[in-house]
Amino acid sequence: MKICIIGTGYVGLVSGTCFAELGNNVICVDKDKEKINKLNQGIVPIYEPGLEEIIKRNSRTKSLKFSTDISLSIKVSNIIFICVGTPTNKITKKADLKYIFNVTNIIKNNLNKYKLIITKSTVPVMTGDKIERILNIRKNKNKFDVISNPEFLREGEAIRDFLYPDRVVIGTSSSKANNIMRNLYLPIIKKKNRYFHTSRRAAELIKYASNAFLATKISYINEISNLCEKSNIDIKEVSTGIGLDERIGDRFLRAGPGYGGSCFPKDTKALVSTAKKFNTELSIVNSVIRFNDNRHKFLISKITKIMNNKLKNKRITFLGVTFKAGTDDMRESPSLKIIPSLIRKGSLIKYCDPSGIKKEFNKFKNINYCSNIKEACKNSDLLIIHTEWNEFKQLNFKNLVKKKKFKIYDMRNLYSPTKMKKSKISYFCIGR
Ligand SMILES: NC(=O)c1ccc[n+]([C@@H]2O[C@H](COP(=O)([O-])OP(=O)(O)OC[C@H]3O[C@@H](n4cnc5c(N)ncnc54)[C@H](O)[C@@H]3O)[C@@H](O)[C@H]2O)c1
Repeated sequence: MKICIIGTGYVGLVSGTCFAELGNNVICVDKDKEKINKLNQGIVPIYEPGLEEIIKRNSRTKSLKFSTDISLSIKVSNIIFICVGTPTNKITKKADLKYIFNVTNIIKNNLNKYKLIITKSTVPVMTGDKIERILNIRKNKNKFDVISNPEFLREGEAIRDFLYPDRVVIGTSSSKANNIMRNLYLPIIKKKNRYFHTSRRAAELIKYASNAFLATKISYINEISNLCEKSNIDIKEVSTGIGLDERIGDRFLRAGPGYGGSCFPKDTKALVSTAKKFNTELSIVNSVIRFNDNRHKFLISKITKIMNNKLKNKRITFLGVTFKAGTDDMRESPSLKIIPSLIRKGSLIKYCDPSGIKKEFNKFKNINYCSNIKEACKNSDLLIIHTEWNEFKQLNFKNLVKKKKFKIYDMRNLYSPTKMKKSKISYFCIGR
């Protein structure tokens, strides 16, 4: 099939590449010329394990192309995926749909034959209805169907998630569109019955409701970890004990610095806004948002306590700054709140992250990036394990840190408190 992917970001690039790998002809377009230039030179603009190899393979055979010519790419394709960003509007807290409608207007002017217009971006309930209204001018009659096909991939595991999905959700009332979608996904759904056809509005809501549920699990276990910390109980044992119940499951039950990334924070807020529009209060989701928004305050006060209220001129090393391992995505990472606060209190920060230096910290003084762990830890007073990269899971801290009295705050519970105690390392973690 001839596919055009509009928006070559985390979702667009991975989806386009995987569709090409499955035997389709794909053009990924973006308005960002630099990004497309890089991709045309074989440089992958994001960190996603395994992606580069598949891009190279499919670029060589020309089944995957990159372009900035959106109009032409739409014209030569039968299937158009909209994969642009839907960030939170800072004032209204609603999903900002300006990129979606901008793209819709371009599609409107380039419908030269029947096409499927599919939102893979996460969009609020009834966005599909609005897209349909915009496209529905006289010359476009019977030339399109608008479908919702929310994407569930996780950064860091994106290729596997795309090629072996738990489910593919397709929202449309058109049986013609549904048949084309089923054929498109056939190679990845044929083994198991993972294709779920539903209404367009339900598909839109399924994505938000799923993300809000997972965010709830994270905030819930973080809240329970606060109780564990006060009552001398190990949260890891509690998580395991809870997770063994198949009705609950053990995933997303790891206590930590709170959820971040480009999805959970914005999607929980957008879901609450949608509910407001329909005069419904989502009190549970509201509490989850409030708890997570305040999580950094708890962590900063814990760091202050660990350092006996002396943060000025203390050398603090962050091992990992991304919101999770396996990605270079810094959007809404807890480190973006914790690090500036420590800098304001006079601490001297070094950080090491396997995904490289971060432009987000350029505006701050007293923060330095180190490309290797040893350099980052050498003179530290406090090491903060912020992200659960594999590189940080088996470190010999006594060899890494030159100072005699250093401390560790393990925000991911990667190490055993008992072993640390035996090694006489001053070790703090979450909920244990
Ligand atoms: N990142 C994830 O893990 C993930 C997972 C599932 C769903 N989603 C959803 O998918 C959508 C995209 O997320 P992302 O993380 O890939 O975003 P992103 O910011 O990485 O990429 C969006 C891309 O769209 C491009 N773009 C914007 N307007 C354009 C236009 N008019 N024409 C062409 N290109 C345009 C931007 O230049 C950018 O490259 C969002 O709605 C997000 O919620 C993201």
